[in-house]
Amino acid sequence: MITAQMVDSPSPKQAAGIAAAEHVKTGMILGLGTGSTVAFFLDALAERMAKEGIEVIGVPTSVDTADKCKELGISLATLEEQPVLDLVIDGADEVDPEFRLVKGGGGALLREKIVAAAGTKVIIIIGSGKRVDRLGTTFLLPVEVLPFGYLSIRENVAQLGCCKPYVRNTEAGEPFITDNGNYILDCQFENGIADANQLHADLSQIPGVVEVGLFINLCHLVIEGADDGKVVTLQR
Ligand code: A5P
Repeated sequence: MITAQMVDSPSPKQAAGIAAAEHVKTGMILGLGTGSTVAFFLDALAERMAKEGIEVIGVPTSVDTADKCKELGISLATLEEQPVLDLVIDGADEVDPEFRLVKGGGGALLREKIVAAAGTKVIIIIGSGKRVDRLGTTFLLPVEVLPFGYLSIRENVAQLGCCKPYVRNTEAGEPFITDNGNYILDCQFENGIADANQLHADLSQIPGVVEVGLFINLCHLVIEGADDGKVVTLQR
C-alpha cells in the first residue's frame, strides 16, 4: 500500500523525519537509530514534546544519537532497562522491494540491528534515491568484524562474491572503530547482491564477523521523502 501526503519541509530527509515523528505517541519506548535522517526525526520529536507535552523514553543506537538526545532533552534508557520497544525509527542506505535494507553507512549497524529486533514496529526513514531493485548496487555493504585477524576475515568475506572488501578508514587514515570497538569492511559487489538472504547467512558463518549490514525482516514501514517536500509511505 502506498500513500502520499504534503509535508512542509525543505529537504527529503527532513520531510521523512517530520512524518515519522507523527507516529510517536506519549508514553512510548522508542528505539532511536543513527544518521542524518534520524537527526531530523529527533528535532521533530523534540518539537512535538515541547509543543504538545508528549513524553517518551529513547534507547539510542549510538553515542552520536545519545549525545543529540541529551542536547534535545529526550530521556534515555539502555536496552537492558527497556528490552521491548514500542517503535523503532531508523534510516537506511538502501531499501529493496522486499523491504530488505543495507545499513551501516554510519557504522552503527550492530546496535541498530539489535534495537530493530527489539522493536514491535520498525519505521525506516529515507531521503530520495535509496530505493533500489537490487541491494548492493548503489552502496557498499558494511560488515562489522573483530579487529583480531581482520585481514584473514577479509579474505573469507571476499570468497563470498564480494570483489573488494575495503577496511573503512577515518580521514586520518586509521581504521574506523565502531562504538563496539570493532572494524568495518565495506564490501563491493560487481552486479549487486544476487541473493541477499543467502549472503546474509553465509557472511554470518564467518568467524570474526560480528554483524552484517543486511537487515532482513526488520522493517514494517518505509517513509521516503521526495524533492518536492512530499513523503511516500510504503507499508509492508
Ligand atoms: C548508520 O549506521 C546507518 O545505518 C544509517 O542509518 C544509514 O547510513 C542512513 O544514514 P543517513 O540517514 O545519514 O542517510
